[in-house]
Amino acid sequence: MGKQFIEFNKVSFAYETQSESTIKDLTLQLSAGWTGCVGANGVGKSTLLQLAAGELQPSSGKVIGPSQAIYCRQRTDFQPENFEAFLDDSRREACILRGRLGIKEGWLYRWDSLSHGERKRAQVGAALWQQPDLLAIDEPTNHLDTDARDTLLGALKSYRGIGLIVSHDKTLMDTLCTYCLFIDPPDFRLFPGNFSQGWKQVRREAETSEKRELQARKEYKRIDREVKKRRSEAAKADRKRSKRGIDKKDHDAKEKKNLARITGKDAVAGKLLNQLNGRARQARERLVSLSVKKTYDTGIWQEGECSNRNTLFTLPAGEISLGEGRILSHPKLEMKPADRIALVGSNGNGKSTLVNRIINSLTLTDDKVTYLPQEIDQSRAAQILEEVKKLSSEKLGYVMTFVNRLGTRPPRLLESVLPSPGEIRKIMLALGAAHVPHLMILDEPTNHLDLLSVECLKESLAGYPAGLLLVSHDAEFLEELTEIRWRITINESNPQECVLEVEG
Ligand SMILES: Nc1ncnc2c1ncn2[C@@H]1O[C@H](COP(=O)(O)OP(=O)(O)OP(=O)(O)O)[C@@H](O)[C@H]1O
Ligand SMILES: [Mg+2]
Repeated sequence: MGKQFIEFNKVSFAYETQSESTIKDLTLQLSAGWTGCVGANGVGKSTLLQLAAGELQPSSGKVIGPSQAIYCRQRTDFQPENFEAFLDDSRREACILRGRLGIKEGWLYRWDSLSHGERKRAQVGAALWQQPDLLAIDEPTNHLDTDARDTLLGALKSYRGIGLIVSHDKTLMDTLCTYCLFIDPPDFRLFPGNFSQGWKQVRREAETSEKRELQARKEYKRIDREVKKRRSEAAKADRKRSKRGIDKKDHDAKEKKNLARITGKDAVAGKLLNQLNGRARQARERLVSLSVKKTYDTGIWQEGECSNRNTLFTLPAGEISLGEGRILSHPKLEMKPADRIALVGSNGNGKSTLVNRIINSLTLTDDKVTYLPQEIDQSRAAQILEEVKKLSSEKLGYVMTFVNRLGTRPPRLLESVLPSPGEIRKIMLALGAAHVPHLMILDEPTNHLDLLSVECLKESLAGYPAGLLLVSHDAEFLEELTEIRWRITINESNPQECVLEVEG
């Protein structure tokens, strides 16, 4: 049995291209149980998990934790290292785990053709199978259908080691976590309780400090007004007392001014003013010390225009190959200019394959279509960021304002060479929003996005007036935004065939 805790001791970490550390001076201790990590895209959640599992080494400070530690990746680009050993293990527990997550032997040889939901299950299964003392798991429910998600939740619940989890799935975080770490650079704040409890506490504290700041600002303004008033009174008095401008022979007037100085009237006024100046300085210092973090406006707007065509696309009834002898059968599919369609179905039933077929058949011009693919692999993400950096300052300004309004700070993003999965999705949404599309096709748009951005995206899509085709496992998201369902299920009498039915 390895160490039953993990300790971050004054840990800082910066990627090579960063001028400021992603993680700065972090001191923290975590023990067994699940700790949720929450924060905007790009704040460093995945970086933290990799430091915990020893996949990254701190630039300074120390991470002390169990040696048997595993990081289960957020990206689905690569097959997990021990996948073959996991598939070969014939012990009962391994068979049960594979069965529960629906992992099949053949997956070993066809990683690239697996759906992202299947890849995710393979990654999580291989990580759990090793029963590490520390498991750092990054967005495990991305791409998963409801059944797989529930199975996964059960498996994670029974894990007894030190767990760190990043997820935008609130229910999952509420069910699992006994601690939550809220990241808002440069702050890392740990609260006992699940996500909702921690979030309430974060909000409460933010409101209290906003109130304190308001109070301090009022107090400072009051004293400042008083100082200004006294100063102008003193200046007036000074002018009166000044012997300049008095006739040399006016002895009475000169006498009065001398008397004011001798009786110390001037000295008292000066002392009072000094005291007041001191209080104003203290009030300003208090205000600075209480100053709440700068807040940014959030929320995005998605332009759109209904096409005046009869249909956005039509796909004649047919069959699409899903590989390994499997097919997807579908009736004639057509989308009208203002249709809002949800494409739903379990993992591996061909949703993204169908989306690709639709994309390839489109006759609309590129600027009339916004397409967000299900995943953007690492090298493509890096390439897109480099292209964005070269945009004209006006276009770059638009993209970065958009990203900023989704809660991710542009300066760090512009220094990055490998944008995080959430950051690259925000960039792609921004690039799409720069046009006025007739059709938006979004494949699992909420994956990787932080909670604030999911809300912003939902609001902007609710007001979008043209054609919307959404693929998602988020039932609430689909319920609010779509009216028609295209549902893919497996044909019970022929498991090799998936069938699409149009509902609504
Ligand atoms: N290899 C790298 N070189 C330079 N910068 C990087 C590299 N990898 C990540 N970054 C940057 O470091 C920051 C933190 O990245 P990280 O992946 O930890 O964020 P995250 O909070 O997990 O984001 P998300 O919610 O989108 O998954 C981001 O701004 C990212 O662009
Ligand atoms: Mg991440």
